[in-house]
Amino acid sequence: CLWVRNLRLKKRLPGPFAWPVVGNAMQLGQMPHITFSNLAKKYGNVYQIRLGCNNIVVLNGETAIREALIQHSKEFAGRPDFVSFQLVSGGNSLTFTNYSKQWRTHRKLAQSSLRAFSSANSQTKNAFEQHVAAEATELTEVCLKLSTESEFFNPSHELTVAAANVICALCFGKRYGHDDIEFRTLLGRVDKFGETVGAGSLVDVMPWLQKFPNPVRSVYQNFKNINKEFFCFVQDKVVEHRRTFDPNVTRDMSDAIIGVIDKANHDTGLTEAHTEGTVGDLIGAGLDTVSTCLHWMLLLLAKYPEVQTRLQEQIDKVVGRDRLPNMEDKEGLAYLDAFIYETMRYTSFVPLTIPHSTTSDVTIEGLHIPKDTVVFINQWSVNHDTLKWKDPHIFNPSRFLDENGALDKDLTNSVMIFSAGKRRCIGDQIAKVETVVPLQSLSHSQ
Ligand code: HEM
Repeated sequence: CLWVRNLRLKKRLPGPFAWPVVGNAMQLGQMPHITFSNLAKKYGNVYQIRLGCNNIVVLNGETAIREALIQHSKEFAGRPDFVSFQLVSGGNSLTFTNYSKQWRTHRKLAQSSLRAFSSANSQTKNAFEQHVAAEATELTEVCLKLSTESEFFNPSHELTVAAANVICALCFGKRYGHDDIEFRTLLGRVDKFGETVGAGSLVDVMPWLQKFPNPVRSVYQNFKNINKEFFCFVQDKVVEHRRTFDPNVTRDMSDAIIGVIDKANHDTGLTEAHTEGTVGDLIGAGLDTVSTCLHWMLLLLAKYPEVQTRLQEQIDKVVGRDRLPNMEDKEGLAYLDAFIYETMRYTSFVPLTIPHSTTSDVTIEGLHIPKDTVVFINQWSVNHDTLKWKDPHIFNPSRFLDENGALDKDLTNSVMIFSAGKRRCIGDQIAKVETVVPLQSLSHSQ
């Protein structure tokens, strides 16, 4: 009968016991994605936890996550109204803004500007690829020099500089020297952003922590200052671009975004502040992610020398030794692609997406989730789902190749690192160029 059906649909979400005041905050540990996957074994792939004053639904596994993000894409396209989200990109961020008509236009315009640098326009695309190739060559030379100087070296600073240089070249048309003061200050801020972002999220779920002196509050204040300083750096650059803007010449991404957002129809609600917010988002999103990916790739190449040898042999065969590799060579380099997909799957270096929120009531796997619920999406669990992946805890790039050595597209599409649906990363194509080209360059030089 209808009553029983409704009762089943509105079944209370399962989940662990939550302590008063803090809820489950103390149980998450250093690797919340692993904690979430373990909780899924007990409570199923859709369950509820409590953090401070927020009920949070956690989604795990290939089926539940794709059902939510693809089949119910609109219902899961929101962002929570966390206090820390309002601090990013001067409060005019594309990434940290809730779902609305204005947000949809904002995202569409940002996406079309990015596309010009990754696929649509061959001139801007080539210029971008050349920037990346130049950076990759310099990175390789620095690494070769450091490796001749001692038995081992820590490439961390070099990888961060390379990723930052590429995103700055993309957005501002400007590459910085390794010792440039302005650039070093920018990198210092980004490092601190990583250190404090965790504290930002505690204040998000326990806003009363802002009201009295405590360690979380001071770290949160710090987070506020870093965002402000970082955004001032971006704003200065965009204002300078606006002053010298020529509609007939797109020097870089800032010009492209000024061209579409500054000039957008007033009805869209978008202003010059959104142009600045968008550029801030692109730099922020493209710094840490890309350098983390480069770190992991190097680590895995060092750990699995047999993989390194196979990669190098394929590049030698396809590219040869007389010229540098480029993106067009990628067609013949299935193993290189397989290595990148396996790095993304195995490490899942962005294990959780940015928190989502529901834009209306919705039902997933028979469980009712009310409007405005905060949702955590566990990408790591998709990439380690035993229903999809054989031996998910083993690093094996060959899992993506069929018996003819070609890439299995069905399997590569199953890797989830850029999320899915309406909030899917809009920088995925740019990110691929930024990771493939340095990898080709490093393997080619060995
Ligand atoms: C959002 C991954 C590089 C721009 C995201 C999200 C993830 C992600 C997981 C959150 C999606 C969600 O909340 O569901 C990555 C990875 C990268 C990368 C793994 C590198 C390997 C980039 C780059 C750019 C970029 C290079 C820009 C040039 C964005 C933007 C958003 C986003 C603007 C916000 C989308 C929205 O809220 O609608 N990315 N990203 N990302 N990413 Fe990336």
